[in-house]
Amino acid sequence: MAGTQQPNPDRLDIEELTHLQPGLARLMPEVGDRFWKAYHAADARNWPFAAWQLRELRKLLRLGEITRPKYRDDLEEFIHDDLEPLLQALDAQDFERFKVLYTEAVDAANEFHRRWDKPWIVWKLPEAPPADLDLTPRE
Ligand code: HEM
Repeated sequence: MAGTQQPNPDRLDIEELTHLQPGLARLMPEVGDRFWKAYHAADARNWPFAAWQLRELRKLLRLGEITRPKYRDDLEEFIHDDLEPLLQALDAQDFERFKVLYTEAVDAANEFHRRWDKPWIVWKLPEAPPADLDLTPRE
């Protein structure tokens, strides 16, 4: 009959395509990586690099909001209450303030893991700076 859509066995439907998009289990390891690098960049007083890491991290969280909308409110809460103050501390080149806010942000992230029934996911800051990056500030 004209206008009737038959399922095409060779094409994925929209539901299947959604499930192929990266959810938090795939995005979070990259989030953790950027968060770790941001700390050590700030410690090295490489303000632009630290801020860039956090802005990229924010993009990953917003991607997670699109692919997994059930996390949207919590991810926005973290962006507003934790990430944005951290970006402001970087803007002010205030490492002491950044350190305090960073500890609070780690606690907040782990609180979200508990809230989503993943109490075994406890993120912590790797003590050593990344071996693959020269964090010396540039002009
Ligand atoms: C900078 C902040 C954060 C860091 C460093 C972080 C880190 C991580 C890490 C390392 C994992 C485990 C990934 C793996 O399977 O190896 C994870 C999983 C997870 N995180 Fe985060 N996280 C952060 C913020 C948040 C926030 C704000 C939420 C709020 C919704 C959240 C919700 C989750 C959930 C639900 C999982 C489990 C995903 C799954 O297995 O489906 N995280 N996180």
